[in-house]
Amino acid sequence: MKRLKLKSNVKKYGIITITSIAVIIFISIGIYSYINIKKQKELENTTEYKLSEIGYSEDDIKVLTKVYKDKELNYFLENKKNDDYIGIISEKHFIKDYFNDYLEYLKEARDTNYALAVEKVNTKTNKEYYTDPEVTDTSKNELMLVNKYYHLPDDYTPELVTIPLAYSFGELGSQKCTQNTYDAYLRLWSEAKEAGFYLMVNSSYRTHQKQEDIYNQYKNVQGTEYADDYAARPGYSEHETGYAINVTMNGYTDKTFKDTDAYPWLKDNAYKYGFILRYPEGKEEITGFDAEAGHLRYVGVEAATYIHENNITFDEYYAYFVK
Ligand code: DAL
Repeated sequence: MKRLKLKSNVKKYGIITITSIAVIIFISIGIYSYINIKKQKELENTTEYKLSEIGYSEDDIKVLTKVYKDKELNYFLENKKNDDYIGIISEKHFIKDYFNDYLEYLKEARDTNYALAVEKVNTKTNKEYYTDPEVTDTSKNELMLVNKYYHLPDDYTPELVTIPLAYSFGELGSQKCTQNTYDAYLRLWSEAKEAGFYLMVNSSYRTHQKQEDIYNQYKNVQGTEYADDYAARPGYSEHETGYAINVTMNGYTDKTFKDTDAYPWLKDNAYKYGFILRYPEGKEEITGFDAEAGHLRYVGVEAATYIHENNITFDEYYAYFVK
């Protein structure tokens, strides 16, 4: 009798236990499914998920979300996937404000050279030289841009110091530049001398009138095309800022200076003193001028170092970092 009761109790508790386990499993599955559905819903609501649905890869999404945030990404959600978007946004010197201009350039050029599109649009060289000129922001001082798209205000007159004859050609008082250009030049000059090169300034600050005379002289003798390759039109020359100096050595002209050993030395070292070679070889289309081996522009050590290390022009630097 006792054994029978025990057996029935075991059976009863067994059923209860199994039922409880079943209920727990059932509830757990329910909770698990609920969490998963919720998580899936949350995931589907993320911008990243929506972008992946449009066809962007994980890497594409990283590129997009690094540059664009929150509502800015709506444009990409509302439009079809376009490989040009990723190509252009991945460029190191991509500027958000120019996004549509880059796309327009690519369309017109029927090209997918994204680096070139960024370079052209940033420097305005997608337009003819001297079109849509802007007055440059002179408050940027040594970082002001003066080129075939940015000119100086008519009344611009910088404060200048005279470069002594120990460091320059011409009559005393004929070579001038800004104080910071001069201070940096003295440091550069001393190091160049240590390296065996005796640099001399043969052109520096020019008044608007002087620049006009130089430009007209080229134009009258060799024609407009030649003049535009070598000299800036008045108002568009950085010689008028006081931050530009041309250097050479005794016995060499502007043109032959590039055959001296001082030229490669300058290319490697000028940045340490805050100077850049403003019109380098290979960058003629961007700068708008034929290469000038001895044309130094003072921009400060930080800018000069970046320009040197990244092998870019001041025009590109200005668009990305100064403007
Ligand atoms: N030679 C340079 C480009 C100037 O005239 O400013």
